[in-house]
Amino acid sequence: MDKIIVTGCNGQLGRAINKELCTNSNIEIINTDVFQGDGITPLDITNVDAVVNLARKIKPAAIINCAAYTAVDKQESDVDLSYKINAIGPRNLAIAATEVGAKLVHVSTDYVFEGNGTRPYIEFDKTGPVSVYGKTKLAGEELVKQFADKYFIVRTAWLYGDGKNFVKTMLSLSEKMDEISVVMDQQGTPTSAKELAKAICYLFPTDNFGTFHGTCEGSTNWADFTDEIFRIAGKSTKVNHVTTREYLEKNPQAAPRPAYSILENYMLKLTSDYMFADWHDAIEEYLKELL
Ligand SMILES: NC(=O)c1ccc[n+]([C@@H]2O[C@H](COP(=O)([O-])OP(=O)(O)OC[C@H]3O[C@@H](n4cnc5c(N)ncnc54)[C@H](OP(=O)(O)O)[C@@H]3O)[C@@H](O)[C@H]2O)c1
Repeated sequence: MDKIIVTGCNGQLGRAINKELCTNSNIEIINTDVFQGDGITPLDITNVDAVVNLARKIKPAAIINCAAYTAVDKQESDVDLSYKINAIGPRNLAIAATEVGAKLVHVSTDYVFEGNGTRPYIEFDKTGPVSVYGKTKLAGEELVKQFADKYFIVRTAWLYGDGKNFVKTMLSLSEKMDEISVVMDQQGTPTSAKELAKAICYLFPTDNFGTFHGTCEGSTNWADFTDEIFRIAGKSTKVNHVTTREYLEKNPQAAPRPAYSILENYMLKLTSDYMFADWHDAIEEYLKELL
């Protein structure tokens, strides 16, 4: 039986990975997080000794890193912790994976790009992060490449699952407000944690190593996405489509958001037949399960 260490198991992706993996009776999952809970082995990925010791003890076939510092605005004034969790953490996992011969799956983000593209970004495009989160996630990718022998870096975007996310925020606002303002000039692709987990569980048993984009198919903007969420959920709250500039006048944000961060899953398409679901189908499935 293969042992798989999942870090950050209590986050959105960690929970989705658990659901995907628990159907496989040939896999034993070792769930870890900074969160202490039933069935969770405490592991702070920023502690290199703890990470290496756990890997030596478990001897996993793979480590799936779902741990990250994801609060993008907070990180603008919390740079050291951001580098520790998003860069040193994956470095530690890469060192540990190499030592025990395990594969490493590391999850990254569309924020590694400058976010002013005019066509979907592919894995071979130049990165150029502008936020602290983007910079520290890119540093994490680079350290994984430097220290891991067998790695999959999977960049995703606009993730929603079991946890705090945009979809749940919009649903909660619709309970209190008759109309809300949502930006219409930031383009990307909403991706369900379930779809991402399915792709990761497809990839990690293979030797198809490298850097991959992993988002649902298609693209939209936040305002149109909200319209679709409310349509499926049967909410009557009006969505005012506003520009980022108009939105920021009333709701200042510390971290800049990418205006264009559509990712093309080019490497997956070049090297496999794997296709993500269209984002419309993924959000419909998610809301059916949620509501
Ligand atoms: N969410 C998005 O929209 C989005 C978009 C693009 C890419 N991504 C990437 O996708 C991946 C999964 O994101 P997610 O939304 O599932 O994140 P999440 O829900 O914020 O979960 C992250 C988990 O990591 C844990 N964690 C934080 N610091 C840790 C540490 N030092 N050691 C071990 N665990 C730690 C968190 O615990 P606490 O909650 O207790 O801190 C949490 O359980 C991340 O790599 C993220 O960068 C996310």
